Amino acid sequence: MRVWEYAKKEELGVATASLFMEELHKHPDLLLCAATGSSPIPLYNQLAKIATQNSSLFHHLRLIPLDEWIGLPSLEGSCDEYLQQHLMEPLKIDQGRYLKFDAGNSDLEQECLRIGQLLKQEGPIDLCILGMGKNGHLGFNEPAVKLQPHCHIASLSTESQQHGMIRATVLKPSKGITLGMQDILSSRRIILLISGDGKEEAKQQFFSRTISPKCPASMLWQHNNVDCFVLV
Ligand code: GLP
Repeated sequence: MRVWEYAKKEELGVATASLFMEELHKHPDLLLCAATGSSPIPLYNQLAKIATQNSSLFHHLRLIPLDEWIGLPSLEGSCDEYLQQHLMEPLKIDQGRYLKFDAGNSDLEQECLRIGQLLKQEGPIDLCILGMGKNGHLGFNEPAVKLQPHCHIASLSTESQQHGMIRATVLKPSKGITLGMQDILSSRRIILLISGDGKEEAKQQFFSRTISPKCPASMLWQHNNVDCFVLV
C-alpha cells in the first residue's frame, strides 16, 4: 500500500484526480465503484473541474455504487442522489452506464443477487474509491466477527446511522445494501481516503497493520494495488 499524506483538501483532490485520470487514460471504459460521504468530495470536485474543460473524457466510464441506505423516505441523503450530484451530472455520464442499486426492491436478497450478476458481467471493478468510516467500515461492511464476501444487506452500526448524509432523516435506516469485501478486494486498483473528525481510533487500528474484521479497512493491506490518501 502506498500511503500519501496531505494537509489541504484541494491538494489531496488534485493528487487523487491525477491518479484517477491515469487509470482512465489506460481504460476509458473503466468500471468505477464509488463511495459517498465526505472523504471523496475533494476528488469528485477536482474531476468535475476537469470535466468542464473536456467532458468527453468520461463518456465511456461505467459507474457502480459502493452502497445504499435502505428505507429512506425520499431520495434526500441517498447515495444515489449523491452520485448523481457529484459524478453523474458533472462528468456527464450516460444513465445507461450507471449500474444503480434498487434499494426499494421488495425482494432485497434478489437485488443482491442481481448486483452480483452485474458485477460478474461488467467486472471486475477497475478502480474502487473508498472512504474509511469512523469505525473503520468500508461501505456498509461494518466491524464484525466475520465479513461478507459479496453484495448483501447489512445491519448498520450507530456510527453509520449518525452519518452526516442522513442528518435530516428523523427515522434512521437500520439497514443498507453494500458490496462485500471480496467484491472490493477484487478491484484492480483502490484509492482509500481517510479524512474527517472522529477517526483517530480507527486510524490507529488501521495503521497498526493488523488485519482484523473489527476494522474492515485493514483488509486492504492484503491488496497489492492500493493508494491510501490521508488528510492530516
Ligand atoms: C457512509 C457511506 C459510505 C462512506 C462512509 C464514510 O457509510 N455510505 O459510502 O464511504 O460513510 O463516510 P465519510 O467519508 O463521510 O466518513
